[in-house]
Amino acid sequence: MASTHGAQVLVASNRGPVSYELREDGALHARRGGGGLVSGLSAIGPDAGALWVCSALSDGDREAVRRGEGEPGVRMLDIPADVHADAYNGIANSVLWFVHHMLYQTPLEPVFDEDFRRQWSSYETYNRAFAEALAAEAAEGAAVIVQDYHLALVPGLLRTLRTDLRIGHFSHTPWAPPEYFRMLPDDISAQLLKGMLGADRLGFLTHRWANAFTACCEEFAGGPGDTRIGVHGLGADADFLRERAHRQDVQDRMTSLRTEIGEGRKAIVRVDRTELSKNIVRGLLAYRHLLDLHPEWREQVVHVAFAYPSRQDLAVYRDYTAEVQRLADEINASYGTPTWTPVVLHVQDDFARSLAAYRLADVALVNPIRDGMNLVAKEVPVVSDQGCALVLSREAGAYEELGEDALGVNPYDIVSTAHALHDALTMPPAERAERTKRLAASATALPPAQWFLDQLNALTR
Ligand code: F6P
Repeated sequence: MASTHGAQVLVASNRGPVSYELREDGALHARRGGGGLVSGLSAIGPDAGALWVCSALSDGDREAVRRGEGEPGVRMLDIPADVHADAYNGIANSVLWFVHHMLYQTPLEPVFDEDFRRQWSSYETYNRAFAEALAAEAAEGAAVIVQDYHLALVPGLLRTLRTDLRIGHFSHTPWAPPEYFRMLPDDISAQLLKGMLGADRLGFLTHRWANAFTACCEEFAGGPGDTRIGVHGLGADADFLRERAHRQDVQDRMTSLRTEIGEGRKAIVRVDRTELSKNIVRGLLAYRHLLDLHPEWREQVVHVAFAYPSRQDLAVYRDYTAEVQRLADEINASYGTPTWTPVVLHVQDDFARSLAAYRLADVALVNPIRDGMNLVAKEVPVVSDQGCALVLSREAGAYEELGEDALGVNPYDIVSTAHALHDALTMPPAERAERTKRLAASATALPPAQWFLDQLNALTR
């Protein structure tokens, strides 16, 4: 049933713009997050009647829902913790993320067994909870933009509940090509495509991912039918980044980073979540190969690697995090000297320190195996002080827009990545500055606010 007073614009995502921490004294502490969707949504203004539907993720979030505490414009769904764990960890992050990023070691995985079927039914329950909440909250004819692979079934489910709505979905990940997508059980791939095709319009970050989706539809669903498909390459938020990167806390961190690196040395910087697709281990191997190939760089360069914990509920992520640490330690033990630490690895998330590293980087290393976009590749050139050479994987979505002025690499080839690092380190300063200027222009072509408005306009047109 359409609500007469409901929201005119709704977004739905697993992770919302706010999270709650339950303190020992029983008080709830709210923390607001950032990101493209937060600034995108702010573009339509506080009076636009917007509502963000998200899931409670922690005990603090669930307690906030139960106490009726919440932020205006946000509705958090109290999905049972076990259902959420199966849907988020079991299906979204261990199956759909792996399929779209092509991460399986296929001789042994995936195995679609009874346990998978049980988790899939939780994924359906979780998607249904979102569809029902959106159906209950949306005004007649409202626009709904659903985010990501967590909620792939929502458009189809919502369509059956509310035929009057304009339903969009945006994928922040790559989409798998048909040869990989067909690995899923037939009924599951059919259900996923049917869910997505319940939308009026689907958005992707690059043409490559949009084409992969269309190819899957052609092969497994008889084509995309009436669903329109668009590309919106989310860009960096230049105004926010430049202002934030010049605050005192960033300045302070630049001073301590410079001390850690050592005066006069060059810095190869990477900043990532410790995410399997980010390829941090091969980045370290490439750096080690650089030190073998060009011993003249020893003592002269430092690899500053920020690898912030992510999805630590999953064993494979914990193992990967440990391998990053082990390899960094090994490189430092084998190559380090009393005056030089070749790898400076930080795992404690610190946004101000990330911006400090962006500003002083001589080279940025962004070498994912496969990535929807990769905003680090877009943010570094925007805030870089002296210009920064960008070594960029051709498998990152950002390569579609930045490829011309970056040094492109095959992320699996650590020898060519080592050569690219050397070329980046030796790039003449004037060329580096020129390329950085062009990279920054491409990176900011579609700021988050415009990115969101474009989707909304295309959906409601
Ligand atoms: O990068 C794709 C993406 O789905 C983002 O949209 C989202 O912010 C993130 O991955 C999900 O990460 P997490 O599992 O930590 O919520």
